[in-house]
Parts: sequence; structure tokens; C-alpha cells
Amino acid sequence: MTALQNDTFLRALLREPTEYTPVWLMRQAGRYLPEYCETRRQAGSFLALCKSKELATEVTLQPLDRYPLDAAILFSDILTVPDAMGLGLYFAEGEGPKFERPLREEAAIRALAVPDMSELRYVFDAVSSIRTALAGRVPLIGFSGSPFTLACYMIEGGGSDSYSRIKTMMYDRPELLHHTLDVNARTVTAYLNAQIEAGAQAVQIFDSWGGVLAYGKYQEFSLAYMRQLIAGLKREHDGRRVPVIVFTKGGGLWLEDIAASGCDAVGLDWTVDLAEARRRVGDKVALQGNFDPVALFAKPAAVEAEVARLLASFGSGSGHVFNLGHGISQFTPPEHVGALVQAVHKHSRQYHSAAHQAGA
Ligand code: CP3
Repeated sequence: MTALQNDTFLRALLREPTEYTPVWLMRQAGRYLPEYCETRRQAGSFLALCKSKELATEVTLQPLDRYPLDAAILFSDILTVPDAMGLGLYFAEGEGPKFERPLREEAAIRALAVPDMSELRYVFDAVSSIRTALAGRVPLIGFSGSPFTLACYMIEGGGSDSYSRIKTMMYDRPELLHHTLDVNARTVTAYLNAQIEAGAQAVQIFDSWGGVLAYGKYQEFSLAYMRQLIAGLKREHDGRRVPVIVFTKGGGLWLEDIAASGCDAVGLDWTVDLAEARRRVGDKVALQGNFDPVALFAKPAAVEAEVARLLASFGSGSGHVFNLGHGISQFTPPEHVGALVQAVHKHSRQYHSAAHQAGA
């Protein structure tokens, strides 16, 4: 494999010295980019786009061709996993993802099994193809949904406002949910390890809905299964550590617990103060985040001021990867994204001087 030309992102995740704060954006390839919409139109559908390694490679690289981002993220979706388990993923126009066969009956839950990874071959092929196309420009991030977040979609049958089906199961039949989560955790372990083998240089676990759980239930039904799956991950590949990022949206109250999951970095949403998060867990893990994606609607000068505020809040030294606090909105003006990336690179250098690296 070609040598990495820019490994700033990987070093920051391991809290090693860097010259500036690296930046990438959750959902950086997507509908806010006109070139994405054009490729998606050619593909015919979002799933066709995910299943073509050529087109998935093309859209993965689109944001990197526009902005000097410090990492690429595999273009795919977290719901490819339940699809491979036989649930039948489809996207209803304007309604988001849905499953033809949601997991509702006890017999179906008992029959749930780790799918053959050959069902997800198209994802691993996309990873290899993207690595070749990147030719060492920046590292490639692989990803998966967390066992709990995947279970939310599998049991609710799509997105949800109340999570009433999965929560009812959690309170009425906890053993059924535990069984589902165990199968999901074993599946995600195999899935992420296959992405790492194919060339993913860091992996992120998207626990997008862990934050809807009650105190105690989060630890039992979401975090425990992330800990289990992280323990099974290949942590080194091609002579380099493969860092693991855990992002629980709404997890700000549980940072100490998340930092003890075995991950290298914790993703933060915008409700968290970076300085306080660093005091709480910054000697154990790196932090990633946490610009409010809606603030990207504001004028470039306001975007820059908010970037400067977040960088100052984290303060000097390594261990911060700049990102949004959740995925970018499809209505974001692309030039505001350019202002954000530029502002991160420009304003962060002062926090990474030689004196700061020495711990001054
Ligand atoms: O970050 C990236 O650029 C990589 C690609 C990526 C997508 N989905 C592409 C996508 C990633 C990392 C995801 C993760 C994902 N998918 C999550 C976890 C992150 C989060 O946002 O919390 C979740 C919950 C999903 C499930 C999902 N997929 C939803 C709810 C939707 C509909 C959202 C919407 O905005 O309509 C999708 C579809 C999807 N996944 C799109 C993209 C670019 C839009 C599809 C389109 O082109 O129509």
C-alpha cells in the first residue's frame, strides 16, 4: 500500500503531536453537494450507489476534491448490516429508511444470526477501491452502527420519534433484546474486522440513538455491546494501530463510561463543552467534535468565529479531531463548509506549537 501523505487524523486520535487540528465531517459525502446529487441520479438510487464500488469511490472522494479534509469516510450506510441479515432495506421517497421485515416476532428474533460476510462483499470491495483511489492522500475511515442503534431500526422498522417498540421490548422482554444485541455485536465485530482487512485505517461506531436510553439502560443495552465488539476488533493492520471512535449522540452525561469502553476516541455532540469533556476524559481518549451542524447555515464569518471558540475551548496540545456534532444537513451551503475547514486549519496552528507539544 502507498505511504500515507497526511496522517494528522490518525496521530490526533492517538493523542500524538500534530501541527494543526485535523478535520472531517460526519456525512461529508451527501446531498448538500451538487456533484453527489448528480452521481446519485446516474446510479438511480441511494442503495445502487452504495452497491457500486466505482460510484461509491467517486462520491467518497467528492468532498476531498472540494475541501482539504484530513480523512475520507467510506460511502455506505449503517443499515447495510440488517439488510444482510435478511430484513429487506428500502428507502421510501421522502420517508427515510424502512425494512420490509422488521424484527417483531419472538421466533424471528430467536432465528436472527450473524450473516455470512460475503453478503457485504460490496462494502469491502468499496473499501479497497477507495484506498486505491486515495493513493495515500488521507486515511480512510470505516464504520458501523452500534448494536443498539442497529436494533432500533430493526425493531422499529425504520426511524422513530419515541422508540416505543424497542423500549417496550427492553422493559417487557429484556432477554429478547439482549439476544438481538449479542447477535448484532458479533456481526459488527466481523463486519468492522473485514473493513480493516480491506484497508480501513480507523473505524467509527455510530451509536446515533444510544442517547435516548435511561441512565443504567444505556450502560446495559448500548455501551456493554460496544465494549464487547471493541474487544474483538483487530487493532493493528499493516504495522499501524487502527483507532476506534465511539460516537453516542446524546452521550454527554456518560463520557467517563464511554471512555472506558476500550475505544481510542469519543465523539461528542454539540451539547457538550469541549474543555469540560477534556478535563473529564482527555487523559484517556482523544475527543472528536462538536460543531453544531445547523450553525453551518450562518454566514462564513460566524462559522469561523464558532470554529475559533471550539478550538480555544479544547485548548493546547493534541487529542482533538474537529468534526460536527452530528451529520451535515442536506441544505448546507457548500461554501460554508469550505469556510469551516479553512478556519479549523488556520486557527488551530497556534494550539500546536513546539512549546505546547512539550506540555507547556
Ligand atoms: O459520512 C459519510 O459521508 C459516509 C456515509 C454515511 C451515510 N450514512 C450516507 C447516507 C454514513 C456514515 C451514514 C451513517 C448512518 N446512516 C447513520 C449514523 C449516523 C447518523 O446520522 O446518526 C444512520 C442513523 C443512518 C441511517 C440512514 N441512512 C438514515 C436515517 C438516512 C436518511 C437520512 C436522510 O437524510 O434522508 C439514510 C440515507 C443516507 N445515508 C443518505 C446518505 C448520503 C441520504 C440518501 C440519499 O442520497 O437520498
